[in-house]
Amino acid sequence: MCGIVGYVGPKQAEQVVLAGLRRMEYRGYDSAGIGLVDTAGGAGDSGRIAWAKKSGKLANLEKVLAESPLPPATTGVGHTRWATHGAPNDVNAHPHLGTEGRVALVHNGIIENFAELRAVLEADGLVLASETDTEVVSHVLERELAAGPGTLTEAMQRTCRQLEGAFTLVAVDAHDPERVVAARRNSPLVVGLGDGENFLGSDVAAFIEHTRDALELGQDQVVTITRDAVEVSDFSGAPSEGKAYHVDWDLSAAEKEGHDWFMRKEIFEQPRAVADALLGRRDATGRLMLDEMRLSDQELRDIDKIIIIAAGTSFYAGMVAKYAIEHWTRVPVEVELASEFRYRDPILDYSTLVVAISQSGETADTLQAIRHARGQRSKVLAICNTNGSTIPRESDAVIYTHAGPEIAVASTKGFVTQLVACYLLALYLAQVKGTRYGDEITQIVNQLEAVPAQLQQVLDDAPAIYELARQHTGARSILFLGRHAGYPVALEGALKLKELAYLHAEGFAAGELKHGPIALIEEGLPVLCVVPPQGRDQLHDKMLSGIQEVRARGAKAICLAEEGDERVAPYADHVVRLPRVPVLLQPLLAVVPLQLFACELATVLGHDVDQPRNLAKSVTVE
Ligand code: F6R
Repeated sequence: MCGIVGYVGPKQAEQVVLAGLRRMEYRGYDSAGIGLVDTAGGAGDSGRIAWAKKSGKLANLEKVLAESPLPPATTGVGHTRWATHGAPNDVNAHPHLGTEGRVALVHNGIIENFAELRAVLEADGLVLASETDTEVVSHVLERELAAGPGTLTEAMQRTCRQLEGAFTLVAVDAHDPERVVAARRNSPLVVGLGDGENFLGSDVAAFIEHTRDALELGQDQVVTITRDAVEVSDFSGAPSEGKAYHVDWDLSAAEKEGHDWFMRKEIFEQPRAVADALLGRRDATGRLMLDEMRLSDQELRDIDKIIIIAAGTSFYAGMVAKYAIEHWTRVPVEVELASEFRYRDPILDYSTLVVAISQSGETADTLQAIRHARGQRSKVLAICNTNGSTIPRESDAVIYTHAGPEIAVASTKGFVTQLVACYLLALYLAQVKGTRYGDEITQIVNQLEAVPAQLQQVLDDAPAIYELARQHTGARSILFLGRHAGYPVALEGALKLKELAYLHAEGFAAGELKHGPIALIEEGLPVLCVVPPQGRDQLHDKMLSGIQEVRARGAKAICLAEEGDERVAPYADHVVRLPRVPVLLQPLLAVVPLQLFACELATVLGHDVDQPRNLAKSVTVE
């Protein structure tokens, strides 16, 4: 969950690394640091490490660098930290230097055997400056380098063989100024392939302004970059290979385009994101096809149970998926928090399909859950937004969501495109298993294809939602109610408000109110209600009863209801209108006002919407 950048080439490394860190900051912003190989400042042929690091956001580091500039250098590493071992202070910030200051190291992940390694160093009389596991590795690496044989590359290989846990490591050696060496296990790392220069990053955003040609590294690999070469090996030193690919988005996709926050930009990108997620999913005859679906029709027909695993917002997408998959395919679906999954000894076999939903493709809880599932012979299908990330790579099949880079920590377009991918999966299964007729599937896909325009309609009403949000800046608590597919939307609305506005917010299934939560209702409490479309079943009536129950106790009901639903008006203090869609598709539209509401409320409260406190975009530790 930390962000890492490395560079070697003709440019000023400080500028390249800082620009990369700016785009990596969503991964962690507890501290930032940079290490350069200063060739002018060393003795003889060798250089010295020039470094700076500072707690807090990258802006703090930039201030330090403005006051005390580092010397010019063309090789460097940088880091933005989400603290795991040790408090987020200056000393614990990366890079960490070895005993003699020859090596500078940055790290993402957790070294599980760091206490044992630290004990060995301390027994040798070494006094460590920080509380971090990273500093321990920097000393081990420098000792391996000094003891030889070989370069930083061989020293890194020997070091990695001693480490347990999850890590991306990137290091430079003051005595070998044009070499940057990195290694990865269970933590992301990509190489940017330039012309006379090469880059390293936690993801491609780190170097996207310089090159869109990338090399994805596999598990347990070490990579060495120089200006003109990229060499990959395994931890034993045997030559190995990465997987080259071309990035299909550019720098403008990673910038704010006039919005105050990436989050707001990403909310407004949702019509386009949903359209892209649907693109190319039908063949010439109109039948659904999923290109990246590497499971055969027979394998899909054999599936008799589905378990969806995910975390946070992706988990709520999974909750919606359960309604859709069970309704359209009649296959039983369980939805499970990834962090709980493997610890409950789940019942899995070859006829269970595990669906892992992850925007980043790097969430450690989800990754460990899919490894557990595959260990039990289950097939794993990933629904993911990040090409080349670990979760799809370790899965049997993948549906990419094609939302484009999501930079804001709070997921928005990631969520709606996950929903689209889940609907497509459900319909594809129905097509393969024959549980729905082709005409019905076509009709639902047509309804999905109408969603981008309907999303735009919801977004056109953003000013009214902003006004609503501004009226609630004094709220101490806000509740969210939903039923059926609207229940996960209520949970997601509450999560958005918690993470952005730091406000107490809870989502409830409306039918559960009377079983306890109704005790929370007091005069003036805002309750946002996701009202299901008016249908033949009793969902809508039941929701109206729930709204009346809270209103009778003094709550203020803000209702999200479809156009033409006049029955809701008498019970609502405020109605937000949604375009008409079937109940299963309603989450795609209903979540948007809740995203806008949280974004605006947090903005007015003066919070950092893109980087809420204590959070990181990509949670690569369990
Ligand atoms: C909330 C949010 C998180 C993520 C969760 C899973 O806005 O973004 O709850 O949804 O950390 O992340 P991914 O989908 O990357 O596995």
